[in-house]
Amino acid sequence: MTSKSPSGFHYFVHDGMHRDEKLQAGVIHELLNSDLVQEERESSVQWELKHSSGVIQLARLLAQKRGVDEELAVVAAALHDIHVIVHGTYKDHAVLGGRIARKILENSGDFSSAEINRIVRAVENHSDKHVYSEDKLSELIKDADVLDVCLYGDRLYDYKSERLRVHYMRRIGAVRAELGLPGKEKLS
Ligand SMILES: [Fe+2]
Ligand SMILES: [Fe+2]
Repeated sequence: MTSKSPSGFHYFVHDGMHRDEKLQAGVIHELLNSDLVQEERESSVQWELKHSSGVIQLARLLAQKRGVDEELAVVAAALHDIHVIVHGTYKDHAVLGGRIARKILENSGDFSSAEINRIVRAVENHSDKHVYSEDKLSELIKDADVLDVCLYGDRLYDYKSERLRVHYMRRIGAVRAELGLPGKEKLS
């Protein structure tokens, strides 16, 4: 598709999209054209669109802040909940999503196997908020994920168990402090 914008560039419909843009556009396309109706989804298409976009941009900022590869962070963020986006369910979605992510990345032909392995690992690890690892990309995706879910007013979205809630709150506190933001004590 060719851009019609006056500047000659229109994000996400440009002929010369970068590989991370193509991938992001693919995830949005998947959501907007999914055959899964709302009743078959544990979350909504609206939420997945907002959350996916939010996590991508927060991952970008954290990558800049931490000196992590920004493009890989964006791609891992776009794919982190790909199983939910495709199948509508959260059970084991991180590990299952890793397989879908690998297929998408391999089919794109745009990523080296080393890059694919790094991205897939971050997708597979992202639900383990209670694990604090040395893998910078995995930790960045976990942090971008929790940071996004604390930004919807006074409710904490998307945490999966009371046990994990502690780690969500710990990570939210740490990443907000890292960004110079005040703490968020009142998330119900
Ligand atoms: Fe997730
Ligand atoms: Fe998520």
